[in-house]
Amino acid sequence: MNDSPLQVLTLPTSPYPDQRPGTSGLRKKVHIFQSKKNYLHNFIQCIFSSIDLRDRQGSTMVVGGDGRYFNSTAIQVIVQMAAANGVGRVVIGQNGIMSTPAVSCVIRKIKAIGGIILTASHNPGGPDGDFGIKFNTANGVIGPYVKKILCEELGSPANSAINCVPLENFGGCHPDPNLTYGADLVETMKSGQYDFGAAFDGDGDRNMILGKHGFFVNPSDSVAVIAANIFCIPYFQHTGVRGFARSMPTSAALDMVARATKIQLYETPTGWKFFGSLMDAGRLSLGGEESFGTGSDYIREKDGLWAVLAWLSILAVRRQSVEDIMTDHWRTYGRNYYTRFDYEAVDLDAAVEMMLDLELVVSDKAFIGQVFTVGEKKYQVEAADNFEYSDPVDGTISRNQGLRIIFKGGSRIIFRLSGTDSFGATVRLYIDSFEKDLSKLFQDPQVVLAELVTIALQLSQIHERTGRRGPTVIT
Ligand code: G1P
Ligand code: ZN
Repeated sequence: MNDSPLQVLTLPTSPYPDQRPGTSGLRKKVHIFQSKKNYLHNFIQCIFSSIDLRDRQGSTMVVGGDGRYFNSTAIQVIVQMAAANGVGRVVIGQNGIMSTPAVSCVIRKIKAIGGIILTASHNPGGPDGDFGIKFNTANGVIGPYVKKILCEELGSPANSAINCVPLENFGGCHPDPNLTYGADLVETMKSGQYDFGAAFDGDGDRNMILGKHGFFVNPSDSVAVIAANIFCIPYFQHTGVRGFARSMPTSAALDMVARATKIQLYETPTGWKFFGSLMDAGRLSLGGEESFGTGSDYIREKDGLWAVLAWLSILAVRRQSVEDIMTDHWRTYGRNYYTRFDYEAVDLDAAVEMMLDLELVVSDKAFIGQVFTVGEKKYQVEAADNFEYSDPVDGTISRNQGLRIIFKGGSRIIFRLSGTDSFGATVRLYIDSFEKDLSKLFQDPQVVLAELVTIALQLSQIHERTGRRGPTVIT
């Protein structure tokens, strides 16, 4: 080591107006980070500047990512800027790789000031894909973890961990674990050779659960099943259960369990950060989002592997198949048929205009009570609004969190613009409809929800406005 202090350079730069963080940090196309001068540096400096100098000096910071393209370039920059900003120690994942839940865990363990996570989560990677940066504060790759925990420790055969070597472009695969991008796994499961299947995204915070023959567990149902069987999980036997939470667009399946167990339920806007605040205040034990995110208060993040271990604990106690557990659940609590349509990379102006027009329609007093008839079914509007959330811990109000149309009987249509896309706009349409008639519990969600979809398309005119003939992804 050289005794001379590192030379700190101060360089002028100008801000980029498009660097407003979305639902979960900053996400942009890789070429934006590469071509715009100081694009990465600006954002990283903002992270450091947001930490009080007294806390920053000599502190420890965690840095890791999902190993996507541009990961190592960014880490080099971050390490240098951390030193220039007075950070005393940077803890970096091996080869720069660390999952989002692992960063969250390490921050707590070593009492770090925070962690920078380099991921665009479920968005594609590679030179033509996306790159992203999230900052996790002190309160809070997956592949190597799967191999270690599921294969080495729990004894799954080594060949059951597929696509578990981190690659800069994810081997050309899309990292979002859903029925579209995880179609290979669904196909493999259909053979009936395996009883349980799971998929994760690159940074390991999302999960998809499948049963034998490719039986799909909707994420909204997944959190409800974990809630209903919560004491099969040793962690909760020790800690007890303080509260449940779901994001507003997540189906109301969890509400049914909360009602039956008399446990407090929180309905928050989309984005895990809202759960974090409740967890810090000791009000929340288990949370889930329809977007394949499930987690508990053992860390402040959703954690794909945690969700899988929770399911395995339930299977171990109940000794039933995934499908039997799910169908038993529907018989007990009723079923929330659910679907989400994503219209990705549509024209931003068209999407914004659609949302504004739709808001005018639903906020008109005459809209309440209106009856929509599709075929033989009738739906009467009971309530409609632009979802607003007041944080019960600190009173912060979050407005414009999605347009909701709620019908008599509890069916819901929700429209939102994504906050994690990197190009144009992504419109998300969510549909939730409750059924408790035992003879109607086992139908195809797309068939059951077809009328509500028709109403949503008519009201929004989304196809006419965006020039699309259908969604990019249906979940
Ligand atoms: C999406 C999901 C949301 C999740 C977020 C980060 O955000 O919908 O539930 O918390 O990714 O993983 P959106 O693109 O809808 O703003
Ligand atoms: Zn993720």
